[in-house]
Amino acid sequence: MTESTIHFTAPSEQLPLCNSADLQDGGLAVPFDVVYAGQTCRAFAIRFEGQPQAYLNRCSHVAMELDIQENKVFDRDGQWLVCSSHGAEFSPETGDCVGGPCNGGLVKITLSEENGVVRWHTAYNLMPLEF
Ligand code: FES
Repeated sequence: MTESTIHFTAPSEQLPLCNSADLQDGGLAVPFDVVYAGQTCRAFAIRFEGQPQAYLNRCSHVAMELDIQENKVFDRDGQWLVCSSHGAEFSPETGDCVGGPCNGGLVKITLSEENGVVRWHTAYNLMPLEF
C-alpha cells in the first residue's frame, strides 16, 4: 500500500468552525484556513436558506479571493455568491457557476451543524493547518 493510498482512506475528521449564530442567512461569511492539495488556502462559510455551506475562497476565473470587502461574498440581495474582481456568480447551495467569467464552480467543503456548532469535514485533499 502506498502512502497516498493511506491518506486517501483516512477517516474524515469534523473540526469546529464557528457557532451557528455566527452564520446569518445571506450575511457576512466566516473565514477559516485549510490546506487544500498541500497548499494553505482561505475558505469561508455562509448560510443560505437555513443551511450552512462552505467553499474555498478561490474564484474559478483567476485564483483570487472573492471578497475585496472582507467577508462580503453575497450579492446585494443575498441570492448569489459574487466575486468582487470581475463579477463571476456562483450558487450559494452548490458553488456552481451561474454567470460571469467563471471557469467551473467553487470547491465545496462539507459541513455539519449540531447543538449550535458548525463543523467542517476534512477529506483526503483537505486538511487543517498544522501549527
Ligand atoms: S477573479 Fe473572480 S471573476 Fe475574475
